[in-house]
Amino acid sequence: MSAENGGVGLDWPGKKEAGIQAVQPETGLLREVPDRSIRPDHAPHLFFEGDNLRILRLLKKEYARAVHVMYIDPPYNTGAVMSYFDRFSRRRATSSDSGPDGATRRDDSPWLSFLYPRLILARELLRDDGALFVSIDDRAVHHLRHLLDEVFGPENHVGTIVWRKKVVRGRGHRHIIPQTEYVVVYARALRSLPPFSEPLSPEMVAEYRLSDEEGPYKRIPLAKTGTAHSPRPNLVYPIEAPDGTMISCPTHQWRWSQKTLMARRNELEFVKNRQGKWVVYTRQRLYPSGLLRRKTPVSLYDSVSTSDGTREFRTLCQGALFDFPKPSRLIRDLLGWLPLPADPEEPMIILDFFAGTCPTAQAVLELNQSDGGRRKFLVVQDTPSEGQTDIASLGHRRIQSVLTTIEAHSGKVHPEGFDNLAYRTLRLYDP
Ligand SMILES: C[S@@+](CC[C@H](N)C(=O)[O-])C[C@H]1O[C@@H](n2cnc3c(N)ncnc32)[C@H](O)[C@@H]1O
Repeated sequence: MSAENGGVGLDWPGKKEAGIQAVQPETGLLREVPDRSIRPDHAPHLFFEGDNLRILRLLKKEYARAVHVMYIDPPYNTGAVMSYFDRFSRRRATSSDSGPDGATRRDDSPWLSFLYPRLILARELLRDDGALFVSIDDRAVHHLRHLLDEVFGPENHVGTIVWRKKVVRGRGHRHIIPQTEYVVVYARALRSLPPFSEPLSPEMVAEYRLSDEEGPYKRIPLAKTGTAHSPRPNLVYPIEAPDGTMISCPTHQWRWSQKTLMARRNELEFVKNRQGKWVVYTRQRLYPSGLLRRKTPVSLYDSVSTSDGTREFRTLCQGALFDFPKPSRLIRDLLGWLPLPADPEEPMIILDFFAGTCPTAQAVLELNQSDGGRRKFLVVQDTPSEGQTDIASLGHRRIQSVLTTIEAHSGKVHPEGFDNLAYRTLRLYDP
């Protein structure tokens, strides 16, 4: 434990050296790969092939404080597969040693050293009003939180989403069957982060069944429900009904003060219940200020599962294999929580530097297609060393398959000057 963050922090062998990786100059260059690009000359989207530490250093030149949102899904800390982790972060010691009970204990330091400089660079690329979403399982979530608290500051933790990734029970676990994992969310500066929102469910929309000249609405009782705290005196007062009688609050207090009530009187509705008693409601509009109402997301996400991700990837890439690709819907839903830039001409930059099979690129392409937005993806995927699978090629297959589908079904709907169906691939090389 280190003394940072008020005495609660994380230290590990190699931390200092890892941190230095973030500030070292980058000598590598990028070269275009024409056969992995589509109409590259004016393409908004970019696919970078190479080690993400080096590419993040290069991106700093053009994209410092420019990225609106990042989604990353780093390799999970299995303790067994260390081949991902680059030579800087690999400790010379063995990757495991013995715990007090003699059982093999995982050494987490290579994983921490791997992620640390990349998170430092990620923060430098984020805008002040930007956010980072990180997928992680329960074996590493505590380490990740410590790392992010250190790099972003604990005050910038936006929340942690629990993703119910599995509905089936599965085998091979004697104690607890894991059905969930996490998406940890940090802001560069929480006070600058715009509110998140998502569409109402069809059931919620159906609740707005009343209507007047201003459109559909639903009634919400003005009397506050829930636990009775000690009532606030300014929220307890009688209200005059249309027939001149006085209505006292049926619960511990009203939701509005008398001052608010006077200012927003035209939003009130008085209805007599079956017992002939007046009930006071406020009208909640389905289209406040002309736009369809949205809701604040909750911390539990269960709209799609891992098997949806696998099925989707197999369909798009004709049977190609990859362990647990993320369902693009998960990422699409998360990205959809953030508002587009106020200036419709301004592109929204979305970065994923552990791109894998590129569900983030798919999410961006499809979101743009559905709402005409100018989101621009930057994805980074390492190139294979000898004998390894070329995961980047799986990403290209996914992207090209999505582009083909979009073109076949909806054609070009994006705005002038923004070719949503074009992307450019750049590969890192040493001059
Ligand atoms: C957990 S996977 C991400 C999977 C992806 N979200 C998907 O659904 O397909 C992590 C990815 O990061 C890549 N990766 C690991 N280390 C990397 C590095 N240093 N630079 C670039 N990519 C790296 C791996 O090859 C792998 O594809």
